[in-house]
Amino acid sequence: MARETSVLFVGDVVGRTGRRALESLLPVLREELAPTFVVVNGENAAGGIGITPKEADAIFAMGADAITLGNHTYRHREVWPYLDERREIIRPANYLPGQPGRGTCVVESDGVTLGVVNLSGNLYMQAGSPALVTVDEALREVSGADHVLVDMHAEATSEKVALGWYLDGKVTAVVGTHTHVPTADARVLPGGTAYITDVGMTGARGGVIGVRREQSIAVMRTHMPMRYDPADDDPWINAVLIRCDGDGKATAIEPVLRPEA
Ligand SMILES: [Fe+2]
Ligand SMILES: [Fe+2]
Repeated sequence: MARETSVLFVGDVVGRTGRRALESLLPVLREELAPTFVVVNGENAAGGIGITPKEADAIFAMGADAITLGNHTYRHREVWPYLDERREIIRPANYLPGQPGRGTCVVESDGVTLGVVNLSGNLYMQAGSPALVTVDEALREVSGADHVLVDMHAEATSEKVALGWYLDGKVTAVVGTHTHVPTADARVLPGGTAYITDVGMTGARGGVIGVRREQSIAVMRTHMPMRYDPADDDPWINAVLIRCDGDGKATAIEPVLRPEA
């Protein structure tokens, strides 16, 4: 297996605006970059918080091979049984064993297999066990795959950087999600693992990490509760393209940041 494999990983798709940006840009990026696999973080796909089977099916229909999630996984009850039924959508592996869904999957394309692992950070987030411990067990579940991508859904940059170093040489890529703001530190670590602290978000750049900016500003200026609606101004896709060699190592990682129009 010497041919080049690549993975397009798309950061948190937020609301209808994010889904539309994904729908219009994914065919363009497929044509241009020809990724072997497409993995999408969908934790904000339904109205900005969580996901239902409807949005998950739509994202799969757009060509995603796998969907990863995060702290908003269980917001909508309809998705709970779906997470047990559909293998290619995963929630953080370090959630409690009794919570619905699985934390890893293996997908196949063109005779190549990709293991996908989803993890949640532990700082300011509710996760059953420490990400940097549970990941060992999660990696055993995908040990037969040619390549492995880990989506570390975390608030703290330190937890993501630490995981990147811990997994350097053990997996093809460690990508961070959740903050919705892309970081400028994409690189291949010395052991051959592609790394970025946060991929960013696919949604309205004209809002405040996905929320209408006037609502977010008003809450911060008044300290009074107010409704939050998903923003729709200035949709972008935030993603990364990871190129891999035949040995499960990465050779390159590049940000893919594009406006919809
Ligand atoms: Fe998110
Ligand atoms: Fe999140």
